[in-house]
This record gives sequence, structure tokens and C-alpha cells, in this order.
Amino acid sequence: MDQYAVVGNPIQHSKSPQIHKAFAEQLKQDMEYLAIQSEEKNFEQDLKIFFSSGGKGLNITLPYKLKAFRFADEVSERARLAEAVNTLIKLDNGKIRGDNTDGYGLINDLVKNQQQVLKDKNILLIGAGGAVQGVLAPLLEQQPKKLLLSNRTLLKAQALAQKFKELGNNTKSISAISFDELNERVKNHQEHFDIIINGSSASITGEVPPLTPGIISKDIFCYDMMYQKGGTAFTLWAEQQGCKNHSDGLGMLVEQAAEAFFLWRRCRPETQSVIKQLRNAL
Ligand code: ATR
Repeated sequence: MDQYAVVGNPIQHSKSPQIHKAFAEQLKQDMEYLAIQSEEKNFEQDLKIFFSSGGKGLNITLPYKLKAFRFADEVSERARLAEAVNTLIKLDNGKIRGDNTDGYGLINDLVKNQQQVLKDKNILLIGAGGAVQGVLAPLLEQQPKKLLLSNRTLLKAQALAQKFKELGNNTKSISAISFDELNERVKNHQEHFDIIINGSSASITGEVPPLTPGIISKDIFCYDMMYQKGGTAFTLWAEQQGCKNHSDGLGMLVEQAAEAFFLWRRCRPETQSVIKQLRNAL
């Protein structure tokens, strides 16, 4: 039976085994999917053992996406831009290829599941860590009118904006701003957003990025890349400020998994029922 797994630390709460088992069942794929907890000092060795004993593919989760990027023999363009790998594929020639499906997951959830149009929209993206870097190129590909990055540590947002500005096509729209300046501009009616995406990890600790409530306009869509039963700290805050249209990132998780599954098995699972199944089990 073909073997796959997710590697991370900690790993016991990972939903990937449940998601990939649901995909495999749906598409009648004869495969096994495990969860492997790997210590930092053993990471490369654990991966080598997995692949040399016949393993076909891995998902890589926190804190190893950069290590996996370095481990891969070759990487896709989107992984190169993200400087992170969340999917490893054993190729027929024995080489290990790294890819990153996180951005695909976000875009697919926003466009397909949430029915958001990103083209020509004003988008605010909060955070400047690995999660945000992983989704910047796919977001810019959607040709927003403006993509503003705001982060607690402004320098990190500025560095990311600079890096992606230099990529060429459709990247003039990206720039960075501090929370203070952003709030000031919103209060003075100089800034208006159609979509806010929280790519920071603030929701993990129940915190909300310091945004002025006035940023929540009537028709705005708010999205958190994190997920939580009943809503994240950010989506709950947005709702309190009058936002009617919002979502957490559970769909992104399932969509990135579907793309990884496609890279391995060359067939694409239906995701709606799996998102529903996960939502009910939260
Ligand atoms: P990830 O891989 O999830 O992106 P990360 O690389 O550690 O994790 O990045 C976490 C991001 O969330 C950072 O942008 C961080 O801001 P800093 O760059 O200033 O550290 C942001 N973040 C974490 N906690 C936050 C909070 N309470 N409020 C606002 N931003 C927060």
C-alpha cells in the first residue's frame, strides 16, 4: 500500500490524517496516511528513513517548512517564492520534490468556497511570518488593486513587500504599513478595504491585531487563516464591529491538502463534504 504521512512537532492534533483518509476513501485510493512526530535533530534522518522505506509523499507542518525546503532535491516555483515546503513528493527518478500548496489552499477557499473576487480589490493582509510569505505570490497573481501588508514588526512587512515588489508582473500593488499609520489613514477616510485577511498567529493566543474598529465597513469580508470552533478571536472581533461576511481558515486547510493529494495521486478530491465533516467534528 502506498504510504504518506504528515511530519511536524507537535503532531497529535493534526487534522491531516483525517482529511487525507477522507480523500482516499472518496476516490478509492489504496493508501495509508500516518502522523509522524519528529524531533528537530532527527528531522532529516526521519525523512530519509521514510522515503528509503518506500514512502511516496509527505506533508510538512510546523515548525519544519523551511527545513523541508532545504531538504528537497528540487522545488516548485511557488515553493521557491514561499521559501517553504509543505508537500514532498517522491519522483519516479528517486528525487524528492518540494512544493507549497498553502497559497493555493487560501485562494481556492476564498474564491471557490467563499465566492470572493480578488481582482481589483483592496486587500489588507496582516502578519509577515512564514504563513504570509507562503501566500503572497498566489494572492498577487489574482491581481488585486492594492495589497497592503501590516505587521506588529513593521520591518518584516517592509522586507516582504520589497521582495515581492521585485518579482515583476502585477506586483506594484504591494506595500507595507504600520498599524498606527494604517489606523490613522482609515480614520481620515484615506484607506478602505474590501477584504481583510489575518495571516498573523495572534488568534492562537486569543489576541486580535490592533485595528481601529472603523476599518470594518458594511460590505467587507474578513478572513482568518487560523480556524477555531465558533470562530477565531479575529472573526469574532470583526463580527462585533458589524462584519456580516467572514470565515476562518478551515477551508484553506482542506484545500491545501486537496492540492497535495492531487500532486501525489493525480486525482482531485471534492472538498466541500470534507470541510463540513471537519467543521462538525471541531
Ligand atoms: P507563521 O508561520 O504562523 O506565520 P511566524 O512566522 O512566527 O508564524 O509569524 C507569526 C506572525 O504573527 C508574525 O507576523 C507576528 O508578528 P511579528 O512579526 O511582530 O512577531 C504575528 N503575530 C503573532 N502574535 C501577534 C499578535 N498578538 N498581534 C499581532 N501580530 C501577531
